[in-house]
Amino acid sequence: MALLSTKSITKTFGTLEVLKGIDFTIEPGEVVAVIGPSGGGKSTFLRCLNLLETPTSGQVLFDGEDLLAPKVDLDRLRSRMGMVFQQFNLFHNLTALRNVMLPQMNVLGKSKAEAEAHAMELLEKVGMTHRATAYPSQLSGGQKQRIAIARAVAMSPKLMLFDEPTSALDPEVVNDVLDVMTDLAKQGMTMIVVTHEMGFARKVADRVVFVDGGVIAADMPPEEFFADDNANPRVRDFLNKVL
Ligand SMILES: Nc1ncnc2c1ncn2[C@@H]1O[C@H](COP(=O)(O)OP(=O)(O)OP(=O)(O)O)[C@@H](O)[C@H]1O
Ligand SMILES: [Mg+2]
Repeated sequence: MALLSTKSITKTFGTLEVLKGIDFTIEPGEVVAVIGPSGGGKSTFLRCLNLLETPTSGQVLFDGEDLLAPKVDLDRLRSRMGMVFQQFNLFHNLTALRNVMLPQMNVLGKSKAEAEAHAMELLEKVGMTHRATAYPSQLSGGQKQRIAIARAVAMSPKLMLFDEPTSALDPEVVNDVLDVMTDLAKQGMTMIVVTHEMGFARKVADRVVFVDGGVIAADMPPEEFFADDNANPRVRDFLNKVL
């Protein structure tokens, strides 16, 4: 059974129709790269999945639950569907370690000792043990993003959403973050990744979804998507610009 599926999602802001009917499915363990031109609706699509935006119409089913039903528990939903943003969104007044501990205590009800032990394990995995007591302002962008990933993973989510996690980073640290994401994918995490990193999409994703003009204009394995003979002129045009 699909872990998440959407049916005909639309999203309108005033008179602007940003999503025009998105049908999408992801199976457990799959990694989907979402790519496409600026303004096409990628972020809006992702935000509709964890209800940072409410779709105007359509259906979102996650782990057997209808997310557009009344009274969905948003804290519980977001602990099961982690999100990593371009701008990290860490708590500035907390150390790296406390950033990873706090949601485990507040949302999952873990004890301080349990949360700390799990946080230290995850800091180790993202290569940040040595900076556990640093505050976000003392960390580089790449380090902040690795902490943000550890914080989301600490909730043991079933699905991870990433919205351009490396586009605010200096080029020399992009790979540190992509390596952490690649490891997560290898460990079987189900992931939807909006990215401009075509190398990551090609190597790590099981499918590439091309969002353009508020619709999914292509959905196929990377070998086909990046093939020279991809017949979709919009995809070819996009790839010519970014590759
Ligand atoms: N809260 C909002 N209110 C009004 N318009 C919005 C809002 N959020 C997004 N939009 C509009 O929706 C369209 C799609 O935006 P979205 O951020 O989803 O695109 P994107 O594909 O993520 O682009 P980018 O690659 O630049 O991040 C844009 O025209 C944007 O201006
Ligand atoms: Mg975006």
